[in-house]
Amino acid sequence: MMVGAHSNRRAPGSIDLTGRVAIVTGAGNGLGKAHAKLLAHHGARVLVNDVGGGTDGAGHDGGPAARTVTEIIEAGGEAMANTSSVASEEGAQQLVDDALAAFGRIDIVVNNAGILRDATLHKLASDDLRAVIGVHLLGTMFVSRAALPHMRTAYYGRFVHTTSVAGIFGNFGQSNYAAAKAGIVGFSRVLAEEGARYGITSNVIAPLARTRLTESILGAQGQLLDPEWVSPLVVYLASEPCTLTRETFSVGGGRVARVVTSEALGWVAPEGAGLTAELVAQHLDEIMDMSGAIVPDRADDEIAFALRALGASDVETSLGAKAERSPTQASS
Ligand SMILES: NC(=O)c1ccc[n+]([C@@H]2O[C@H](COP(=O)([O-])OP(=O)(O)OC[C@H]3O[C@@H](n4cnc5c(N)ncnc54)[C@H](O)[C@@H]3O)[C@@H](O)[C@H]2O)c1
Repeated sequence: MMVGAHSNRRAPGSIDLTGRVAIVTGAGNGLGKAHAKLLAHHGARVLVNDVGGGTDGAGHDGGPAARTVTEIIEAGGEAMANTSSVASEEGAQQLVDDALAAFGRIDIVVNNAGILRDATLHKLASDDLRAVIGVHLLGTMFVSRAALPHMRTAYYGRFVHTTSVAGIFGNFGQSNYAAAKAGIVGFSRVLAEEGARYGITSNVIAPLARTRLTESILGAQGQLLDPEWVSPLVVYLASEPCTLTRETFSVGGGRVARVVTSEALGWVAPEGAGLTAELVAQHLDEIMDMSGAIVPDRADDEIAFALRALGASDVETSLGAKAERSPTQASS
């Protein structure tokens, strides 16, 4: 379903996505719905994907995706529904094909679809492990891989993926979800590397919002956390002026914060002494000390940093990057 002219109620100087086509997965409810509506408000034509199942992924219903499309069209935007599951390669390909057939291009992919099947690891059923990894991690990768060739041809693309603080920092009872969500962060960083010379960016958000997934755990705090407070960051990351890539942001309730993976300066065993388990125990304070910690941009950076700490000069890592900063020597 697709009709309508763009809404012209945007403020002058606002981010303009006119002419851009966005895919938003899991856009029938919660955060995805808010993202799809705001992207459309900024002028993007939107492929609204949602399988329409329960919070555990069971079932199938075309209603949620159709309702989001109706709301976008009623507000003067353009949208089309797709009810494929992102967890299947065929479903991911179908939603990309639908977006191309309807709109002729793909500029923006927001990977948002998600389910929960929480259980502590010793009770985690294999089906619940596979289903959660399938929707979050494989779904993100299947949709991205299907959309990527079109972005490479256009030399332009914006990916926004969805992780969770559970994946970045860990959360009891969510090993399947955390593994999938942490995988998305690593995946996005590689996609950012591979997309860079094609004008393609890839970033990740870790949202906090009141949705059907969280309403039972947020309590009174939920009042502060409308999904609409997350979507403006998605629109910014999806816009042409935004050239950030390889980043991760915590976002919710109007707060936006960069999240990084950081590494301590570390401790280096004295030359000739070798490293022993006893030395590790003796120098634990230095090993754990985060003062002066670094934030590597990529694996090359980290490897060069580690080699320089070992005293190597003119570092050329196995991944081919030449270190440009002056050698850093950790204390011994
Ligand atoms: N709400 C939060 O505070 C929060 C926190 C961290 C991460 N997240 C993540 O944000 C994303 C959106 O979650 P939400 O809170 O809006 O939940 P939600 O349940 O309201 O929305 C998720 C949507 O994804 C759809 N979906 C599920 N499996 C799908 C599949 N295989 N194919 C296509 N669509 C599918 C569902 O039908 C649903 O409409 C998820 O990835 C979730 O893990 C949410």
